[in-house]
Amino acid sequence: MSTQSPHLIRKKVIAGNWKMNKTAAEGVALAQEIVEAVGRETLVDVVLCPPFTALASVGHELEGQSVKLGAQNMHPQKNGAFTGEISAEMLRTLYVTHVILGHSERRQYFAETDAFINQKVLAALASELRPILCVGETLAEREAGRTLDVVRAQTTAALAGVKPEQITTVIVAYEPVWAIGTGKVATSEQAQEVHAFIRELLTSLYGAALAQKVRILYGGSMKPSNATELLGQKDIDGGLIGGAALEARSFVELVKAAMAAA
Ligand code: PGA
Repeated sequence: MSTQSPHLIRKKVIAGNWKMNKTAAEGVALAQEIVEAVGRETLVDVVLCPPFTALASVGHELEGQSVKLGAQNMHPQKNGAFTGEISAEMLRTLYVTHVILGHSERRQYFAETDAFINQKVLAALASELRPILCVGETLAEREAGRTLDVVRAQTTAALAGVKPEQITTVIVAYEPVWAIGTGKVATSEQAQEVHAFIRELLTSLYGAALAQKVRILYGGSMKPSNATELLGQKDIDGGLIGGAALEARSFVELVKAAMAAA
């Protein structure tokens, strides 16, 4: 295993998941404010994930900046009769570089299975998009002591067929479902325990050298008041931010917290 500090190996990531919020015009206004504050930031990878309808206009605002553009979902097929869906190639033409896959809201409300999420991960990688793969347990699963089993099963299934040379392109996001949008953040110990577990799992699948390079983000009520503590944990390499990403001030503060922890 490398003796280098994890901070030197893994650049922190702050990704804003806007979910079903912001019209194109509202998205542009938010992106402008963020770009003004951290547009040239290179110490941390900053990613904005607006809804599909705002990708083109927000992407335009990000031209020439270091802030990157992400989508919230995609379909694994290249094209065809999939009414309402969007392909990796379509995202690529809008200069999208990242795509959130397997978010718990997609698993819960749209019945996405691990097998389907796996197809998307492989399709995203084949199109040179960086998947932000979300995994995490529900409250009932945590209370039943099944957290690590659930996270192992979701991660292993989603990464089936991902080659060693592709794994460092994947960003994993640990998002305990009970912490998403609830204001109930995982303690830094709870989060670090699962992050370390995911890194061990990646080590068993890909070896230590590669596993040390994979960024593992925390998501679930991360905000400026709890970010420094979470981002200070050894295996927490950034955040996937929902609520606090909808306002420039709190999102920029999170980017700054990640810069300070870098
Ligand atoms: P939250 O959402 O920050 O509002 O809890 C995180 C997410 O769902 O990605």
